[in-house]
Amino acid sequence: MPAESFAAEKSSCSFEREAREAVYRAIHTRRDVRGHFISGPIDDTVLARLLTAAHHAPSVGHMQPWNFIVIRDAERREKVRDLFLAARSEEVSAVAAERQALYRKLRLEGICESALNLCVTCDRTRAEGSPLGRWHNPEMDLYSTVCAVQNFWLAARAEGIGVGWVSIFDSVPLKKLLGIPGHVVPVAYLCVGPVSEFAPRPDLETKGWRQRLPLSGLIMSETFGGDGEASLKSLADGMAAEGAPASSHAGGGAEYS
Ligand SMILES: Cc1cc2nc3c(=O)[nH]c(=O)nc-3n(C[C@H](O)[C@H](O)[C@H](O)COP(=O)(O)O)c2cc1C
Repeated sequence: MPAESFAAEKSSCSFEREAREAVYRAIHTRRDVRGHFISGPIDDTVLARLLTAAHHAPSVGHMQPWNFIVIRDAERREKVRDLFLAARSEEVSAVAAERQALYRKLRLEGICESALNLCVTCDRTRAEGSPLGRWHNPEMDLYSTVCAVQNFWLAARAEGIGVGWVSIFDSVPLKKLLGIPGHVVPVAYLCVGPVSEFAPRPDLETKGWRQRLPLSGLIMSETFGGDGEASLKSLADGMAAEGAPASSHAGGGAEYS
């Protein structure tokens, strides 16, 4: 985020400027990594920091429904990749005919090339009997687990560790392969490891699959579809036009000037 964005008023509770910049830097330079994994392990101390960040995510009723399955075994990962390949060949048939060739060219996983895989699960029974925040909206436990994934993803970016989310699976054989019981949902399957670089833009943008939408078109006023907030929209689009940082390498990141 450009430096001018930080000129806005600072509240007494906000971070110092450098710390604020670091937070936005992690957000804007985080990437979904598939093809840029390099060999080498992740130090357990670093992994523990990332898992601690995940475990400090918000969760409905503070239920902390997550578990983290660390998968290092090469043979197991090959089996997971086989599941991915089977699911991908099914998914491609649902893609519009004229986009299937492009879909087939996309790199959509780094299961075997990354240092390790992590399956983040949601135990839907963890806080049974005390459904604070889930009585009317039972899916909130799944949303909470996604918050843990995002914490992990952002902390990993700050550590120079790449993360790629793979969702192209039939969850039934995946659960069987990982011994996940029926009441537990595999929310995210992540490829995690050292990388050569973090691409400046999402792969799916670079490869022409889909571009980032203009933020102003997504902001509504008061009710769904409500027009208004012209000044906010113009500020938001101005920031997008100034651009998120151009590029960043694994050890560092783009400079904010
Ligand atoms: C719930 C979820 C599932 C995803 N599943 C996949 C996947 O199966 N394969 C893949 O290559 N990327 C997957 N992604 C990553 C997105 O493609 C990626 O976030 C998006 O293209 C934007 O790129 P960026 O994360 O680098 O900003 C997934 C992301 C999310 C949030």
